[in-house]
Amino acid sequence: MPHRSIIEPFKIKSVQSIDLPTVEEREEALQGAGYNLFGLHADAVIIDLLTDSGTGAMSARQWAGMMLGDESYAGGRSFFKFESTVKDITGYAEVIPTHQGRAAERILFANAVKEGDVVPSNTHFDTTRANVEYQGAEARDIVIEEGRDPAIVLPFKGNLDISALQATIADVGADRIPMVMVTVTNNSGGGQPVSIANLRAVREVCDEHGLPMILDACRFAENAWFIKLREEGYADKTPREIAREMFSIADGCTMSAKKDGLANIGGFLALNDPDLAGKCRNLLILTEGFPTYGGLAGYDLEAIAVGLEEVLDENYLRYRIRSTEYLAEKVYAAGVPIVRPAGGHAVYLDAKALLPHIPPDQYPAQALAVELYRNGGVRGVEIGSVMFGKLQPDGSETPAPMELVRLAIPRRTYTQSHIDFVAEVVIDVAMGAADMGGYRIVEQAPWLRHFTARFEPV
Ligand code: F0G
Repeated sequence: MPHRSIIEPFKIKSVQSIDLPTVEEREEALQGAGYNLFGLHADAVIIDLLTDSGTGAMSARQWAGMMLGDESYAGGRSFFKFESTVKDITGYAEVIPTHQGRAAERILFANAVKEGDVVPSNTHFDTTRANVEYQGAEARDIVIEEGRDPAIVLPFKGNLDISALQATIADVGADRIPMVMVTVTNNSGGGQPVSIANLRAVREVCDEHGLPMILDACRFAENAWFIKLREEGYADKTPREIAREMFSIADGCTMSAKKDGLANIGGFLALNDPDLAGKCRNLLILTEGFPTYGGLAGYDLEAIAVGLEEVLDENYLRYRIRSTEYLAEKVYAAGVPIVRPAGGHAVYLDAKALLPHIPPDQYPAQALAVELYRNGGVRGVEIGSVMFGKLQPDGSETPAPMELVRLAIPRRTYTQSHIDFVAEVVIDVAMGAADMGGYRIVEQAPWLRHFTARFEPV
């Protein structure tokens, strides 16, 4: 057989036009937004790679399913369809719908995490970290050493460091560790997968100390596909079988259906522990809604139920993971430093390596993100010292370990020529790296500052 491209396994049935703002319009938009790309009108963006969360295209089957949505307040038919799909994929006994992932985190942590606790994870996502810290606890990232080095190529750079987990338990004591979390794939660490072997090793340590293990399962299907491609003994298993095995190792999961649920909104908390689930449901009623809709419409539950099935399709996953790798290969071949290997949902540009002349307190990744927008209307997101830098009492800042710009690929949304355009913009910007300057923050919120901070060029 001659070589064949891995094509998008879908046809486009409905389109949304993209405005093509000029360079001058983009410059004006940047100033208006205080050089924070979260502050832009999305119409001023040409290719929007801010996030892969809720930004994907739903399928005809999902839209058709939405017409079947049952909007009963309690016990709606759509809930039972959603519940049985989640149970079937995860194997967990208790399924609690939420309006998105962070709502699942909030009801879980409010009931299971208390002041002074420590929650270890390979890497907490920013909302997860903030929800842990909001309980007065510490969110501790213990990804393997290699996971912090963008250049090292390894199959499972999202793995949790088992000896660091043991050291953490010895250091703070098991009674102050309410759970161990594992994020699959490891979003903030480059979208890197976690192996089954590593999940089993985490489980073993948890069992030794009687600790619950919870997956942050936002990108579980992408993680399962990487296991199929890269872990010995999994090549002949289906993504569904692998996903089921991943879930079976843990005691529950938080999930944002805006990622591998292929939906525009939604999430869930799934657990085996009925007592904890009961407490979480009570808080859900207080803040989200009745436990059979959890802040969602019945039609959202339908869309998620269908999406969770579609995301495990092999043709979809083969295309999905390949399309991200395609962008990574193009920019890397042109000499642009990136986190390697390519992540599942995103390509991460290494701003520290590209802009060594911009110090961390002038936010090199922010500078790079701004320049990608200015140059080509491409919107990515800073994952560096703006997002994770820690303000010290003396006013200085401890920088984040990595300075990355994430280009997250919405699911089933952009075509190969869109991605070719993105690669052209990235390469063009990288060629002018030496002339780029840094930014300073002129306004910021006490937490999750990256969403609303305003900047000015240094
Ligand atoms: N956990 C991970 C690993 C995530 O990536 C996200 C969201 C969440 C939890 C929270 O889910 O947004 O539904 O409340 N990540 C998005 C992103 C926002 O852009 O990576 P949510």
